[in-house]
Amino acid sequence: MPEITLTHLQKMKKNGEKIAMLTCYDATFAHESSQAGVDMLLIGDTLGMILQGHDSTLPVTIEDMVYHTASVKRGNTGSFIIADLSFMTYATPDQALQSSGRLMQAGAQMVKLEGGEWLCESVRQLTRNGIPVCAHIGLTPQSVNVFGGFKVQGRGPEQAKRLIDAAIKLEAAGAAMILVEAVPSSVGKALSEAVSVPVIGIGAGVDTDGQVLVLHDMLGLSITGRAPKFVRNFMSGKDSIQSAIQSYVAAVKAETFPSAEHCYAE
Ligand code: KIV
Ligand code: NA
Repeated sequence: MPEITLTHLQKMKKNGEKIAMLTCYDATFAHESSQAGVDMLLIGDTLGMILQGHDSTLPVTIEDMVYHTASVKRGNTGSFIIADLSFMTYATPDQALQSSGRLMQAGAQMVKLEGGEWLCESVRQLTRNGIPVCAHIGLTPQSVNVFGGFKVQGRGPEQAKRLIDAAIKLEAAGAAMILVEAVPSSVGKALSEAVSVPVIGIGAGVDTDGQVLVLHDMLGLSITGRAPKFVRNFMSGKDSIQSAIQSYVAAVKAETFPSAEHCYAE
């Protein structure tokens, strides 16, 4: 597989080719996913829930993120690697720079942080220092205690406008990608049209520039037995993980995932 770069991802947006992304936490799955054609691997801080069994992402440390990023890097065969800045590792621009440096040295090609326009100064600081940034907006799980639960965001014209304005400001500050979680499909579409950088959605409808799912969710694995609305089990009817991941990539490219049942209305 050719090595995917940021330039390549920007071109995909321009050409209307959907970007397929999955979370990934170890070398073997990095190998499987990159071989199956997944464009981007995200070392998500969901590893706190998926691998460590916590009930939120808050306990995850930067050391955890570095360890898993380095593991993914070793198994990857050409996908673009993004690593999450975990909770309380980017409270100031300087702390963001320190933490991101560690993720980049472990093998990340981009870092992702959660929040709105208040992150612009950190985004500028990172970009100035050669670190591409993805801004995660909408439902940002590290703020679950502020939201009072995992709730759909961007509902109603005012909230939608606030999200779109934030994305525009983050792009102007240098963000090279936006990830939006759990918003009505109309908001996912409007966001993708409002900025020129790729917008990756999870529970944000079919019209974003790409899709991401948590690997274990799309393989039908779950501790609680309940999957979020936006998840499809790609393992069902398949006899290997490789073919399940391939069918996810194909469904994202063909825009057959997500379908209406996985999306939020206004
Ligand atoms: O940590 C994670 O897995 C994520 C995705 C859900 C987007 O941030
Ligand atoms: Na995350």
